Amino acid sequence: MIPRELIGKIIQEAINAPSGDNSQPWRFEVRGNEIDIYNLVGRDATLFNFKNRGDFLAHGALIENISIIAEHFGYEATVTMFPEQGRSDHTATVRLERTADKKENGLFKAIRERATNRKTYKAYTLTEEEKQNIGEMRGVGGEEIRLADGREEVSKLASIISLNERLLLENIVG
Ligand SMILES: Cc1cc2nc3c(=O)[nH]c(=O)nc-3n(C[C@H](O)[C@H](O)[C@H](O)COP(=O)(O)O)c2cc1C
Repeated sequence: MIPRELIGKIIQEAINAPSGDNSQPWRFEVRGNEIDIYNLVGRDATLFNFKNRGDFLAHGALIENISIIAEHFGYEATVTMFPEQGRSDHTATVRLERTADKKENGLFKAIRERATNRKTYKAYTLTEEEKQNIGEMRGVGGEEIRLADGREEVSKLASIISLNERLLLENIVG
């Protein structure tokens, strides 16, 4: 039987996987040497998460990480995708089995190295210095940056931007 602490360690490393808006939309249940992975539907509330496809992409990276990390510790991961019929939030069951020899494919190290941001976002009002620095930035064509101030203005702009994204995403040719 695989030690529970080791499963915990494998999961801890695996959640370095990227996710839309860094939402980390996953939940785990451990039974013996099996890990059940569930999607926290709604955690990534961005428009890009169309039909939860962003979540599935993130879960794909997570499951791949589990396989790589398990291999590093001498276990082989057997993945069953969507093990429960009619439940798309139960994304996978991963079974870990001891392998004869420890293998190392170099990717284990890369999992931690490629992760850039595992902290939740802080929403705060920009300081005067930050505002000034941003205001001094210029685009390649000399464009100016104007900052929106106040919740109402930000909210209005967000609606416009999201409509723009929607038009783009729903009309991609090819
Ligand atoms: C499905 C998915 C969608 C993402 N969409 C965006 C995006 O629209 N813009 C962006 O800058 N990053 C996007 N990211 C990157 C995440 O914001 C990033 O993975 C997360 O903040 C953690 O950072 P890290 O992966 O560099 O460690 C996306 C990642 C995934 C998996």
